[in-house]
Amino acid sequence: MHTKIAPSILSADFSDMGGAIKKLNAAGADLIHCDVMDGSFVEPITFGGQMVKNIRPLTKLPLDCHLMIEHPKTQIKFFAEAGADIITVHCEACAKISPTYLRETLELIKSYGVKCGAVVNPDTDVEKIFPVFDLCDMVLVMSVFPGYGGQKFIPSALGQIKKAKEYALSIGREDLDIEVDGGVTAENVQEIRAAGANIIVAGSAVFKANDMAAAISSLKA
Ligand code: DX5
Ligand code: ZN
Repeated sequence: MHTKIAPSILSADFSDMGGAIKKLNAAGADLIHCDVMDGSFVEPITFGGQMVKNIRPLTKLPLDCHLMIEHPKTQIKFFAEAGADIITVHCEACAKISPTYLRETLELIKSYGVKCGAVVNPDTDVEKIFPVFDLCDMVLVMSVFPGYGGQKFIPSALGQIKKAKEYALSIGREDLDIEVDGGVTAENVQEIRAAGANIIVAGSAVFKANDMAAAISSLKA
């Protein structure tokens, strides 16, 4: 599958988010990864649906909204109406509520005509979300514990990606996107892609680079 790069605006300057979006448009990003944190599921608070609504007119790129929040069902309406193209929710946040909450949330996302995905933390076996692969457009394998940009890639994520890809193929879902998030660099991206990930989130690797376009193309090369 064609590799796509999804720069995370978590690493942008929040006082100039519009400027960051325009730079990503010009630099060859394939999606824009929006890290939504609630101060509860993860320690920091970033932004909510209003940010997505405000950046929506500034780009034609798909807005990939990664919800690191408790009770994700309560926020789906706001992100869908704000113009999100993909919304992903953590299986850990859903499992706290009920065994059916993840599936219900994914169905709710789809009811707005938005693509949906399930996310697993590094210490959650990806097998936990196999039962919802049928509903997902994408699965997101975390390669760092969520909350902060600039962390080191956790190598066990490679096994999670492989497992997810193999299972997707075994159920005839060669179209299922496998996204990886956290600590991706030009040095480790090859093995991540070889494991089966086709959507690569990159925060620091893109925003800390002097040449954003070169950083994005080196992740795709
Ligand atoms: C972590 C976020 C990631 C993060 C990636 O909670 O979900 O998207 O911004 O940043 P880097 O690429 O710097 O690890
Ligand atoms: Zn993310």
